Amino acid sequence: MSPSRMSDQAPSSPSASQETPTPQPGAPVLGTPWTRSATKVALLGAGEIGKEVTIALSRLGVEITAIDRYDGAPAQQVAHNALTVDMSDPEALTAAIRSSGATIVVPEIEALATDALVALEQAGEVRVVPTARAVQLTMNREGIRRLAAEELGLPTSPYAFASCLEELVAGAQQVGFPCVVKPVMSSSGHGQSVVRGPEDLEAAWRYAAADGRINRGRVIVEGFVRFDTEITLLTVRWRHPGTGETVTSFCEPIGHRQVDGDYVESWQPQSLNQAALKRAQQVAEAVTAALGGWGLFGVELFIRGEEVLFSEVSPRPHDTGLVTLASQRLSEFELHARALLGLPVDTLLRSPGASVTIKATGDSAHGEGVSFAGLDEALMQHGVDLRLFGKPEAHPGRRLGVVVVCADDVQIAGDRARAAARAIRPSV
Ligand SMILES: Nc1ncnc2c1ncn2[C@@H]1O[C@H](COP(=O)(O)OP(=O)(O)OP(=O)(O)O)[C@@H](O)[C@H]1O
Ligand SMILES: [Mg+2]
Repeated sequence: MSPSRMSDQAPSSPSASQETPTPQPGAPVLGTPWTRSATKVALLGAGEIGKEVTIALSRLGVEITAIDRYDGAPAQQVAHNALTVDMSDPEALTAAIRSSGATIVVPEIEALATDALVALEQAGEVRVVPTARAVQLTMNREGIRRLAAEELGLPTSPYAFASCLEELVAGAQQVGFPCVVKPVMSSSGHGQSVVRGPEDLEAAWRYAAADGRINRGRVIVEGFVRFDTEITLLTVRWRHPGTGETVTSFCEPIGHRQVDGDYVESWQPQSLNQAALKRAQQVAEAVTAALGGWGLFGVELFIRGEEVLFSEVSPRPHDTGLVTLASQRLSEFELHARALLGLPVDTLLRSPGASVTIKATGDSAHGEGVSFAGLDEALMQHGVDLRLFGKPEAHPGRRLGVVVVCADDVQIAGDRARAAARAIRPSV
């Protein structure tokens, strides 16, 4: 919704405007769910991140329609309305958004018919968060990498793109070994492999082609970065109420550990030297400004001494940012909710914190669900909190929950989070 459209929701009768101060142009006004005044959001993707965004928006009285490809997805369990739709189909996606009555569209996943979002935004029917273009560029590694490295001139790993094995061989020679091969459209490490020498390229090509969600058969090959630390810098673009201008704020850096391209633990704050922190903020500001709009972004960066390399960015809350449920005054989900509504934020760290994920070890068919034991032992520890996502089906390695902990320092928080996560036993 453009700032001017937000003011459309302001009280319009002459008496109301005499009694209450006239809102400034662009000042947000929120309504009441399930009434004519409702502020309606369509959430595209209803996983664990969307579930927390839904809860944060609900607390502000926003009406949410959670859309996913399967019934009973985590955010659908807490949203006002739920729709099950193939969101890679542009007509189905457009129809679902229109039927929700939403004026604000909040994507939670990457695999979307983004052309349909661009068309709806251009027609003035909805505002896509942060912008339809940002969603389109970041769903494809090629779009965001070319923007960051070639247009903005930000430092990244060396890279090449390939659409067949021969091009991959040439690209790998160019970036050098070891290198990392990834489908251009994938997340959570799917289809991604580290290649040590030319003999591994064919297997990497086949693995990427089999696992990429859409646009099978195009990959990025990146030089392997021997980083000291990798961080997520949560960056919020929000509307300053005094000036109406967009302001950029940063959370404390989040450190994280990934196994097979998927996050297993994170902590905040990750300390960085002053030069690296400043550089990280400059990189995050540049890339988020180029994407535009209001909302929270997860900027993934590799730190090597004072050098900062841009890796990728989510134009939405980040999985490693689940730690902020314990560590910040406003979690990344509350920050996103406020910012996307045009409300002010603060990014204060409340306490050092850590998160550790809980993953499925077996298979459970849709509707069978998962049971969790060991919860009492896990929650007995000081400062421990838990989110169980409520996923109706499981397969080995699927993320089912997260332990978040606050403590006096990140080491203690991490130890407690690991112990608590170990105590929890999912069974199918
Ligand atoms: N060029 C690289 N050099 C070294 N490590 C890398 C490189 N690219 C990726 N990695 C490692 O693999 C992880 C996942 O990579 P990336 O973030 O690109 O994939 P993803 O599938 O989008 O993951 P997610 O969706 O979980 O963010 C990174 O966080 C990092 O630990
Ligand atoms: Mg990533």
